[in-house]
Amino acid sequence: MVRTGECKRFARYPRIGSRPMLRYRRFMKVTLRQRVGVTRPVIIQGGMGIAVSGWKLAREVARTGQLGVVSGTALDSVIARRLQDGDKGHHIRRALRHFPSPAIVSRVLERYLRVGGREGDPYRPQPPLGIDPTPAAIELALVGSFTEVWLAKEGHAGIVGINLLEKIQTATLSAVLGAMLAGVDYVLMGAGIPRQLPKLLNDFAAGHTGELSVDVTNASRTYTASLDPVELLGEELPVMHRPQFLAIVSLHVLAAFLNRNDEIKPDGFIVEGPLAGGHSAPPRGKMTCDEEGQPIYGAKDDADLGAMAAIGLPFWLAGAYGTPERVAEAVAAGAAGVQVGTLFAFAEESGLRRDLRLGLLQSLTEGTLSVRNDPRASPTNFPFKIASIAGTLSDPATYAARERICDLGFLRTPVEREDGRLTYRCASEPEHMYVKKGGEAADTVGRMCLCNALLADVGLGKVRKNGYVEQPAITLGQDLAGPERLAETHPDGWTAAEAIHWLKSRLP
Ligand SMILES: Cc1cc2nc3c(=O)[nH]c(=O)nc-3n(C[C@H](O)[C@H](O)[C@H](O)COP(=O)(O)O)c2cc1C
Repeated sequence: MVRTGECKRFARYPRIGSRPMLRYRRFMKVTLRQRVGVTRPVIIQGGMGIAVSGWKLAREVARTGQLGVVSGTALDSVIARRLQDGDKGHHIRRALRHFPSPAIVSRVLERYLRVGGREGDPYRPQPPLGIDPTPAAIELALVGSFTEVWLAKEGHAGIVGINLLEKIQTATLSAVLGAMLAGVDYVLMGAGIPRQLPKLLNDFAAGHTGELSVDVTNASRTYTASLDPVELLGEELPVMHRPQFLAIVSLHVLAAFLNRNDEIKPDGFIVEGPLAGGHSAPPRGKMTCDEEGQPIYGAKDDADLGAMAAIGLPFWLAGAYGTPERVAEAVAAGAAGVQVGTLFAFAEESGLRRDLRLGLLQSLTEGTLSVRNDPRASPTNFPFKIASIAGTLSDPATYAARERICDLGFLRTPVEREDGRLTYRCASEPEHMYVKKGGEAADTVGRMCLCNALLADVGLGKVRKNGYVEQPAITLGQDLAGPERLAETHPDGWTAAEAIHWLKSRLP
C-alpha cells in the first residue's frame, strides 16, 4: 500500500513517455556517452567539400565502425538548392522533423522547398553569412548542418564528424551549433589555426552563447561574432553533448603550440601532408615553384612523428595514406590511424556528380589522370590541388570563358574600410571590385571561383540568367596509388565499405 506522502513524492517524477521523461532519458544517454567516451576510429574518411563527403558517404563509413565525416562547407547553399530541386526522397524533410524549432523549419521550407523542382528557374539567391548575419542566414545554415549530420547518423550507432575550414570563420558558429543539435561526435577543422574551437564546443554544450573572434583586414578594433542558442531555440534547449575536436595541422610545431594551453587544446590531431586533396599549407619559408608552377616542399615541411607522439594526444596521418600498407605504416609509427579522402571521392556514395566520377575512374584506369598543386587557384591563397580534366576550370579555355562573378561568397574575407565600415572581398570576384575594396589586382590572377565550381561538382551548379552554366573544378589528392590499385580489382568502382575493408586489410 502506498502512503499519501510517498504518493505525492512519486508524483514529482515525470510520467513514462512524457516529454520531461524523454528529455531525461536523452540526457542520461548523452551523459553516459560522455563518460564512456566515443569510439576512436582507425580510418577517418576525410571531409571533402562541397558535399563530396555528403551524408550518404559518411553514413556508409560510420556503419563500418569507422569515422564518417560530412563536409560542413556551404551547407546553407546545399540544403537551399536541394530543397529547390524538390528534396527527392524526402530526406531533408525527414531530418527536419527532428529539428528542435518547428518555426525555423517552416520558415526555411516555405522559402526554399519546391516540391516539383525548379522547372528550369535559376536557384534563388540566399542571404550571405557575415560577421553579423541576418536571422534568415543563420537559420538556413543551422538547418543545413543539422540535416547533413542527422542523415549521416540515421539508422546506425556509428560515429559521425563534421569538417570545417578555419578560413571560413563567419560560417563556423551556425555550422557547429547545427551539427551539435544533431549529435555530431567529432568536429575536425583545418585551413588555419583552429584555436577557438575547443572553447566554442564547451560553451555550446553548456547551452551558453558561442563566440568567435573574426580576422578582419585593416581592423582598427576586435571583431567578434556570437550566437546564442537560447535566443535562437528558446529556453527548452535540447541537451547537446560536447563532440571530440580534432585539429588538422601540417606540422608538429603547430600541434605542440595548440597543446600548450587547455583553452585551445584539441582532443587529437590530423597531420596532413602536402599531397592531400583540397587545400594544403604552403611550404615553409619563401615559396618557390617547379617548372610546372607547383610549390616545392622539402624536408622541413614533413611533420616529425616522434614529436607528434611525444605530445601524447591521438593523431591520424593524412595525405597519401590511402593504401593498406600506408595504413599499417601509420599505425606502426604511433598514429591512431589515417584520414583518407581521394579513395572515398571515387566511391559510389561520394557526392561527386556521377558523370564526373565515372570520367575520373576512366582516366584513372587509362593512366591519364593527373593532379596539379595550384598555388593560385584558391582565393584563400592556400595551394589547392586541381585535377586536369577537359571541360572543367583546369582547362584554360573553360576558365577563360567564365565571366567573373561572386554571388555565393563563402571564401570572402571581411575588410575594414577607411570610413570604419565593413566590406567583404574575394580574390575570385571581378578584378575592379576587388581593387575598389583595397585589394591588389595581382592577387586576382589565376583565381577560380571555388564556391560555384565545387557546387557544380556535386550537381548543384548554377545556370545564370544569361544561360551560362557554372563549370566544375575537381580537387583530388596527388597520390593516386590507392584508387589505381583498387580499380584493378574493382574496375567499375567501389563502395565506401569496400574501400574501408581494403584499407584495413594489412592491420593485425
Ligand atoms: C575532393 C576533396 C575535397 C576535399 N575537401 C576538403 C575540405 O573541404 N576540408 C578539409 O579539411 N579537407 C578537404 N580535403 C582533404 C581530405 O579531407 C583528406 O584530408 C585528404 O584527402 C587526405 O589525403 P588523400 O587525398 O591523399 O587521401 C578534400 C579532399 C578531396 C579529395
